[in-house]
Amino acid sequence: MGYDFLQKIPQEKSYLIKGLQLVQKKQGYISDDSIRACAEYFKVPEVEVEGVVSFYAQFKRTQPGKYQICVCDGTACHIKGAPLVLDWIATELDVKDGETTKDGLFSLETVACLGCCSLAPVISINGEVFGKLDRKAVIKLVKDFKARG
Ligand code: FES
Repeated sequence: MGYDFLQKIPQEKSYLIKGLQLVQKKQGYISDDSIRACAEYFKVPEVEVEGVVSFYAQFKRTQPGKYQICVCDGTACHIKGAPLVLDWIATELDVKDGETTKDGLFSLETVACLGCCSLAPVISINGEVFGKLDRKAVIKLVKDFKARG
């Protein structure tokens, strides 16, 4: 994959984070290849780029799935069973928090408050919010999205 888009950013170490943000915006995550490209472009060791990426939670190292499931673990959702919701989805899809399924269809992550606490517990799938979930509703949702392929 080309990284010509980095040319917009000054080739200075202090712009590394900006560069990584742009890479993630364009590619959805920071791949090993992106780490190498940024190290080369900003003239910093790869291990340093890797360090920056792992330090900031905003950077993702795994390729997002076609369907990105975010499980809200804000206070209201946590009290209403967010850890269980996460567990149900993880079991149904055989994937862990922060990972993508082997077929690339789903990625799963825990996020902070999605801003609709009255619907707790809440998840979002590609930005669409689903609330007041119980186990049955969660499994049905996942199956419906699986069926879409
Ligand atoms: S805590 Fe989950 S939406 Fe606010």
